[in-house]
Amino acid sequence: MPHAIVETETPIIALDNKDIFFSKKSPFFIMPVSTRCEDFIIRAYQKDGRIIIKLDKTTYPLVTDDVKRSILDFAELLAESLNGKVIHHNLKETGKDCTVLKSYLLDVREINKRGINDLLGSDRIRVEVGIGKGEFLLKAAKSNPNITFVGIEIANEPLSKAVMRFYKEGLNNVKIVKYDARYVFDLFEVNSVERVYVNFPEPWFKFKKLKHALLNVDTLKKIERVLKKGGRIELLTDNLAYAVSVVTALETQTALKNAQERCIDVFRGNIDTYFERRWRRKKRTIYSVIYEKQNKSVSVERKNVNFPLKIRQNYVLESGFIFKILDIFENSSDQRIVEITFGRSVNPQHSYFGITNSDELFLIPQSIFVADEDALKSLELATI
Ligand SMILES: C[S@@+](CC[C@H](N)C(=O)[O-])C[C@H]1O[C@@H](n2cnc3c(N)ncnc32)[C@H](O)[C@@H]1O
Repeated sequence: MPHAIVETETPIIALDNKDIFFSKKSPFFIMPVSTRCEDFIIRAYQKDGRIIIKLDKTTYPLVTDDVKRSILDFAELLAESLNGKVIHHNLKETGKDCTVLKSYLLDVREINKRGINDLLGSDRIRVEVGIGKGEFLLKAAKSNPNITFVGIEIANEPLSKAVMRFYKEGLNNVKIVKYDARYVFDLFEVNSVERVYVNFPEPWFKFKKLKHALLNVDTLKKIERVLKKGGRIELLTDNLAYAVSVVTALETQTALKNAQERCIDVFRGNIDTYFERRWRRKKRTIYSVIYEKQNKSVSVERKNVNFPLKIRQNYVLESGFIFKILDIFENSSDQRIVEITFGRSVNPQHSYFGITNSDELFLIPQSIFVADEDALKSLELATI
């Protein structure tokens, strides 16, 4: 995580800067930033003569030089204004042009407005979840130029590598959504995706956290809805228990049907990705789960949300949905930003909004979230 540390004995509260918003109930302060490629939040706190300044990862920026420079600029500004010095940072620039990286990314705010299918303008769509360094997606997209591939990936490091690879190959049938895949499937049209590939999703997976897993029951149901008739979800994993949990959910909670001889088969092919090579070296067995959709799902019109929204209650926990104002940040002009968690209570999203004195939520450039059905439902419960 990109960060910097400033050493100073002067309290930050002494600083009069309208771009800095102080929490009303925690030691944190934040600064919303917009560079030419990204809109994000820098989050910091002061303790024991130090200010720790970090990128707020819930705003999901791709960590480009612009982002690193903004964090360092902020650290230097604090150091200068508070008679301190920057004593540590990991913000070395890499020289990668953010406009190249961004050219492959679908902006979640655009996705919320128009839906993914409309942005892609293709009726042949395949999705890979957790693309890592993009090896599988690169080969798939190169050998199927008439199909549009969407990669969903949450992690910065592998994603930047993947995108640079796509750029070097001149691929123009790949788009990336940088967000947690558990929320993204609602933004595809129902019955519109040919395949969903998931290769070695969560090697660190803990079974007591099943409901938080990427391929939990909710995500699998969402995937079922977006698959075309005859469309498939294809999972590869070295973790037999993970395969069992996915098959159990597919068999009991969806109408998808096994498309191989066995529900869980041994995978004897070769997709040659970083994680496949790793597990093969360790002589681990690789399992394949392939399920197919037999019948179309009923189409539903995608709803959207219109800001500003007047807040009725600061905290709602109802029918498995949550809406909670976690923190309120205020600048020296009494302008306010709220940090909210919202959506399904087991796996809520987290974002920042502006808020008026009469409690109306409005979007700021750093309001990064996916307007999935759960998010819409919880916003509906908490607002008028
Ligand atoms: C073990 S790696 C596998 C990468 C690649 N598929 C391969 O075979 O080498 C798992 C990848 O899934 C991504 N991932 C895990 N959970 C995710 C989520 N909820 N949404 C999007 N990506 C996720 C991780 O960031 C990571 O890049």
